[in-house]
Amino acid sequence: MHYPLRRGIPDLKFRWFDVYTVLHGLMVMMFMSTTLANELGDTLTTEQRVSQLLATMTLDEKIGQMSQRNAGDCHASHHLGDDLRAGRIGSVLNCVDVDSVNEMQRIVVEESRLGIPLLVGRDVIHGFKTVLPIPLGQAATFNPEIVKRGAEVSAEEAASTGVNWTFAPMIDISRDARWGRIAESLGEDPYLASQLGVAMIQGFQGSDLSAKGTIAACAKHFAGYGASESGRDYDTTNIPENELRNVYLRPFKAAVEAGVTTLMTSFSDLDGIPATANDFLLRKILREEWQFDGFVVSDWDSVRQLHVHGLTDGDRGSAYEAVTAGVNMEMAGDAYINHIAGLVEEGLLDLATIDDLVTGILRAKFQLGLFENPYTNPADHRAFADQGALEISQQAALESVVLLKNDGDALPLSLPDLSSIAVIGPLADAPFEQLGTWIFDGDADLSVTGLSAIRNLVGDNVDVRYVRAMETSRSKSTEPFGEAADVAEKSDAVILFLGEEAILSGEAHSRADINLPGAQAELVRRVRDAGKPVIAVILAGRPLTLSNIVNEVDAILYAWHPGTMGGPAIADLLFGIESPSGKLPVTFPRVVGQIPIYYNHKNTGKPPSADSIVHIDDIDAHAPQTSLGMSAFHLDAGFTPLFVFGHGLSYAQFEYRDIRISASQVSLGDTVTVSAELVNVSDIAATEVAQLYVRDLVGSVTRPVKELKGFKRVRLEPHQSQTVEFQLHTDDLAFYGRDMKLKTETGSFRVGIGGSSDAELQQEFVIVVSD
Ligand code: BGC
Repeated sequence: MHYPLRRGIPDLKFRWFDVYTVLHGLMVMMFMSTTLANELGDTLTTEQRVSQLLATMTLDEKIGQMSQRNAGDCHASHHLGDDLRAGRIGSVLNCVDVDSVNEMQRIVVEESRLGIPLLVGRDVIHGFKTVLPIPLGQAATFNPEIVKRGAEVSAEEAASTGVNWTFAPMIDISRDARWGRIAESLGEDPYLASQLGVAMIQGFQGSDLSAKGTIAACAKHFAGYGASESGRDYDTTNIPENELRNVYLRPFKAAVEAGVTTLMTSFSDLDGIPATANDFLLRKILREEWQFDGFVVSDWDSVRQLHVHGLTDGDRGSAYEAVTAGVNMEMAGDAYINHIAGLVEEGLLDLATIDDLVTGILRAKFQLGLFENPYTNPADHRAFADQGALEISQQAALESVVLLKNDGDALPLSLPDLSSIAVIGPLADAPFEQLGTWIFDGDADLSVTGLSAIRNLVGDNVDVRYVRAMETSRSKSTEPFGEAADVAEKSDAVILFLGEEAILSGEAHSRADINLPGAQAELVRRVRDAGKPVIAVILAGRPLTLSNIVNEVDAILYAWHPGTMGGPAIADLLFGIESPSGKLPVTFPRVVGQIPIYYNHKNTGKPPSADSIVHIDDIDAHAPQTSLGMSAFHLDAGFTPLFVFGHGLSYAQFEYRDIRISASQVSLGDTVTVSAELVNVSDIAATEVAQLYVRDLVGSVTRPVKELKGFKRVRLEPHQSQTVEFQLHTDDLAFYGRDMKLKTETGSFRVGIGGSSDAELQQEFVIVVSD
């Protein structure tokens, strides 16, 4: 849809509809405050309060509510003061100084005509002062409860500064490790991202948005951002509608069903219409199909960027497109404030559309209780980084670390057998880097690093020798490697802290080569040659390609960016105080050229198998060939990833036995129980994440080779066993078919239970129509 181009409309000072609005508003107020209040015993519902207030607002005041301004330097009460007084601002973002926030609230409440309080937004992505693991790390916990508790702490800390709205969770399905923002995501799987996204929303919003310490959440980025071409940030996406609905939109639908207050549009372009102007997404799907009654904020300046995309000829057209599509609030731009009034006066936008968009914003303000309590007293709130917050941060970090390999039981390290340890690498003692991306308010002084936690844990009995060896993860100089190799040789074991710093992932920080940067692979080789057990602890914001070091080390703990308490969590795992229980929320490619590679792919008409593929080195030089393998694989990388989705080892040994299905045939609308025995066959107590996968064998559209449909964290003592049970309702198997309607189709399904997406215990059942 294009707005009809018209120019030269005079900036009218007098508008008949404003006079009408104010008079009408007064009448509505009088009517409501007498009649309704009498009837309802002085209590108006939120909807009545919204309509009452809306009826009194001028067009400019409405447009003000639709405008969010950057208050980044926190002197906003000065330079934004006049606009706040005039009701030209509905929300600010990026000021977390409580006095400044209170002063801005005071201006709008006491000095603006209608006294409408502000929404105060901030990116509280994985913690406020206390930092939790990056969201991708939190996803590796497969634990909605710890994710929820982390969000609760983040909300409580943020709320003490006057923040009442966070721009999280980020639930963009991410299948491309090159994309820097994969760090902020909950991984590649729609089911996992839905479960954990909902947990985060519940943690931020609590059961009562108006309670102290709860804040509004924002599911972002709607939609498809994770599919940016080549993993380059902000780039175009190409997602067919069926894929969009079955994969990318699923976590958003779950977020809406869970009552998320707001959504944020994506910067990206979806099939020719940037998300911020995409009425198919914002009107048809979000409002019509899902009945979303919250509001949508643009991304930073993404309304004005519609012009840069080439969709409009300037800000005026951009305002038109975004409003028409249903973007309630413009973040950090001035297209709305400068152009909506003119567009209404010209008759290009109607008042009903504006009223509708403003209603969503006012509703959120009432739900947050801002009209009753616009001000914040930090003394009423949780203190920063209290003991409880640090414990949650540590527990989340502990559960997020994934043991990728453990040859010869190199881990856990046995303290009594050690007299010296070499701790080597640029990320062993990097308090800021372990926090990861998007930590505006995180305090690196609170960080406990791996090195200090190891020293603390081993005490005086073990000599801990630290060699940084590289200034940063990107350093190319190998000069200090001699000292590192020397120290390694003289120690009983080596712990190498490798990876990438916080700056190498996050927004606009994509990489095309996702190997360990700099000379790290060479450092690994030099240390390995010292002949001692080598443990790699990798801190990173994405899956890195580890093919060039995976066989050079004995064990790998993948710790993501683990947050404030990452060090103690890692130390406890290294020395077996706890056993690792994290599982991969994303597939680890062997080489970057395999991307996109994800577990829930389609089967294709020529699926590869171990027998069908040929390796480039095995092509016979003397027998000319014209075809090789004839299946979906790479000659130089095969078809399997380095580590599959859901993978993660433990110090214990788990076995899955006896998969059972409660019925071999189930009617549409019924539930089937799938179970298996999980046995800890070792002498070590540990937690395992049991996973349920399903394949719909024949569909009206092709279906993934497997889809995660359930998971459970199970704690087992040595030699203990437990029946792990999953209830599978036939609705859980619904998908969007050719008609783009969500439904379950009858036919055969294969289920698998196991400790990763390789789940080998399998059974089949059939869904039939109900009688
Ligand atoms: C990001 C959003 C973020 C916003 C405000 C944008 O650049 O894409 O995710 O919430 O900035 O900081």
